[in-house]
Amino acid sequence: MEPTAAAALREARARLGGHGRDARLDASRLLEAASGRDRAWLLAHAGDTLDRHDFERFTGYVARRERGEPVAYILGECGFYGRSFEITRDVLVPRPESEHLIELALRRLREAAARGPRVCDVGTGSGALAVTLCCELPSLEADGIDLSPAALAVADRNARRHALGARIAFRIGDALNGLAAGRLFDGILANLPYVPTAELQDHPDPTAFEPRVALDGGPDGLDAYRRLLERAPHHLVPGGWLLMEAGPGTASALADLAGRAFPASAFVEIHRDYAARERIVAVRG
Ligand SMILES: C[S@@+](CC[C@H](N)C(=O)[O-])C[C@H]1O[C@@H](n2cnc3c(N)ncnc32)[C@H](O)[C@@H]1O
Repeated sequence: MEPTAAAALREARARLGGHGRDARLDASRLLEAASGRDRAWLLAHAGDTLDRHDFERFTGYVARRERGEPVAYILGECGFYGRSFEITRDVLVPRPESEHLIELALRRLREAAARGPRVCDVGTGSGALAVTLCCELPSLEADGIDLSPAALAVADRNARRHALGARIAFRIGDALNGLAAGRLFDGILANLPYVPTAELQDHPDPTAFEPRVALDGGPDGLDAYRRLLERAPHHLVPGGWLLMEAGPGTASALADLAGRAFPASAFVEIHRDYAARERIVAVRG
């Protein structure tokens, strides 16, 4: 006989690491997906026996999560800045820290909203950054660039999921190389790989499941950013912003590189994330 929803959740929480917040949240999201019911329904029917197929699906999901697979890969989607995105193993799972990049970009782009600003999202992955900005600012248009054709296919589906097809041009590229001279942006955002190669294997999950091209930043974690900074000054309007996400251990070296790439800029700032770790380098062109 299958267990009740409450018993299945209890057992899953125990398997996923006790009663910590993540185990509770993960178990609940997996049961919602396996049963096709929302949290309120499951709470109201906590004493009901689960359907056999739903329970089997749930057990399979929990086993995958127990092996460390991110919930986003198991369910094929995740939330970012209040919206849902398709996620496959071809793309990085968007991180809550990157929502800070969105906040900083929106603050800077709102002034330009009346004239229809254009941004470039370099290393677009799932397209989460470009799609979110376009949803938040209806006059905005974006380019999304990535080395990975498989990631761009996911980004394109996410743009269509949010009815933005014509407002985002996705293209394959290595940073800004190959972009037509004279293509200018009010903002360039980048969340490029920034983990130093030697640290990759010690990195906490979920990185073991994510594409290496999304994480491996080379010996000092800054290879992709060096390439971006070679071209970024040529593609920003005067006064435009370059916002780059980095790791706590790489942000100040990235700020030094940015200062050299933009020698005339009076604004090279490091912003901290909500956990007070150095996270985003902002440069005014
Ligand atoms: C850390 S992920 C970020 C994905 C997404 N922007 C996000 O914030 O969730 C980095 C992305 O950059 C891409 N990438 C790596 N090196 C690149 C390069 N030199 N030029 C363009 N894209 C690159 C990877 O394929 C990957 O999709």
